[in-house]
Amino acid sequence: MGLKLLKTKLGKIELETPIIMASGTFGYGLEKVDFIDIKKIGAITTKTITFSPWKGNPQPRIYETYSGMINSIGLQNPGVFYFVKNILPEIRKKYKKVFVSITDKTEKELLEIVKIISKEKVDAIELNLSCPNFEKKRKMISQDPDLTYKVIKMVKNETHIPLIAKISPNVTDIKEIAIACEKGGADILSLINTVKGLRIDFKKMKVIDGGLSGPCIKPIGLKCVYDVYKVVNIPIIGIGGIVKGMDALEYIMLGATAIGIGSGFFNNPNIIDDVYFTLVKYLKENRYETIENIIGLLNEKC
Ligand SMILES: Cc1cc2nc3c(=O)[nH]c(=O)nc-3n(C[C@H](O)[C@H](O)[C@H](O)COP(=O)(O)O)c2cc1C
Repeated sequence: MGLKLLKTKLGKIELETPIIMASGTFGYGLEKVDFIDIKKIGAITTKTITFSPWKGNPQPRIYETYSGMINSIGLQNPGVFYFVKNILPEIRKKYKKVFVSITDKTEKELLEIVKIISKEKVDAIELNLSCPNFEKKRKMISQDPDLTYKVIKMVKNETHIPLIAKISPNVTDIKEIAIACEKGGADILSLINTVKGLRIDFKKMKVIDGGLSGPCIKPIGLKCVYDVYKVVNIPIIGIGGIVKGMDALEYIMLGATAIGIGSGFFNNPNIIDDVYFTLVKYLKENRYETIENIIGLLNEKC
């Protein structure tokens, strides 16, 4: 009963549950974590990969803040070739739906990754257009609507695999960027990535410039989903500060078709069960037949 109730569709992608592991916070999902019931996960989004391996930033890369954390991982990853040969086959064995997150510094490298990934069995490509600790001097792609449109269109032309655009909340008007993604051909939107933040490490007398995540960013994520849902017709994956079931419900009622669990997994290992059972309980108690009945219930399209 539970599974049927929670079935949802991200465009053409059918998910058993709306619970998606957000990129970067669950690694490649291959660690042995006995306390997680894999069946409750609708899809896993893998940690962002690039064409060549990236070393990432020096340690430490994670700092606690009030109600959240700042990370400056710097997209450490083994590169697309290693990923496809050694990691992806293992992920495929374990998860029903696999979304592969990608990014790079140049269009050429980005297209190479897209070509390589498109030969594999993956359910979606998530284009990370929004990493705040990525090449500090350069503007993020998703801070520029014209560039966003151009990059999405370019990637879309190279692949038959559904394309997710993951965008940043660090913009003047996120609606403008979301519309550019849809016009460029994105099939799904993921929002939000981390919010730019700072803190000082007094022991090292160092400024930590990174991406803020966790419960402190939930109101920002909710507002982004609320605004974007009104102006696009593609499905949204709502991410940001989900630490318990009711948080996920908020995102769904504001228009998210599925939700992403990120750093919430670090401090609540039961978060998947929590979200799953909260959603099932809510739907049953309020006599909804499917979760699709409550997507955007408290929001309106323009
Ligand atoms: C340690 C860490 C690593 C992350 N790595 C990635 C990444 O590789 N690619 C990506 O698109 N987002 C990455 N993110 C962003 C998350 O997927 C998510 O969008 C963000 O943390 C907001 O959700 P949360 O508040 O639930 O963590 C990372 C976040 C954290 C905390």
